[in-house]
Amino acid sequence: MHRVHFRKEDVTVHVPSGTNLRQACIDSGVDPYPALGGVLSCRGKGFCGTCVVGVDDPAALSSPGKRESRYLKRLDSELASHLRLSCQAAVNGDVIVTTNPNKKESWKQHGYYAGPRKPHWERPAQPASPAEASPGEASDAAKKGDETATDPAGNPDVTAS
Ligand code: FES
Repeated sequence: MHRVHFRKEDVTVHVPSGTNLRQACIDSGVDPYPALGGVLSCRGKGFCGTCVVGVDDPAALSSPGKRESRYLKRLDSELASHLRLSCQAAVNGDVIVTTNPNKKESWKQHGYYAGPRKPHWERPAQPASPAEASPGEASDAAKKGDETATDPAGNPDVTAS
């Protein structure tokens, strides 16, 4: 028996070796598909790609077949090596699974989408002047007669112009 943990749903099941990962999802009440994916899916034939999941340890699953490899090659993602079609993967070891990894993970990891920004007084301090940021750069700017002066707080100097 192998332990399969669905990270987002916080569900853990124990399945025998060789169990289809998509079937393990469905049997444990975890939906491997995005909202309409289940309706529009190929129902486990390996054609549609809607059942894609992220896994922490790809070695804990069976090797991807020809059809799945062709699909995974198209994914232009840093996470591609940890993505599998759940309908094509058999569980051969303990694994942690992330359902809907593309929509729920990758773009939300970007700083812009990472949640509300902290107020400015809680953010890390910015260098007060360009000289503190990088002395070489500041002197270059001074030599060129850079007119974009800033006050010590880093705001553009409105009196300079
Ligand atoms: S259900 Fe279509 S590829 Fe897995």
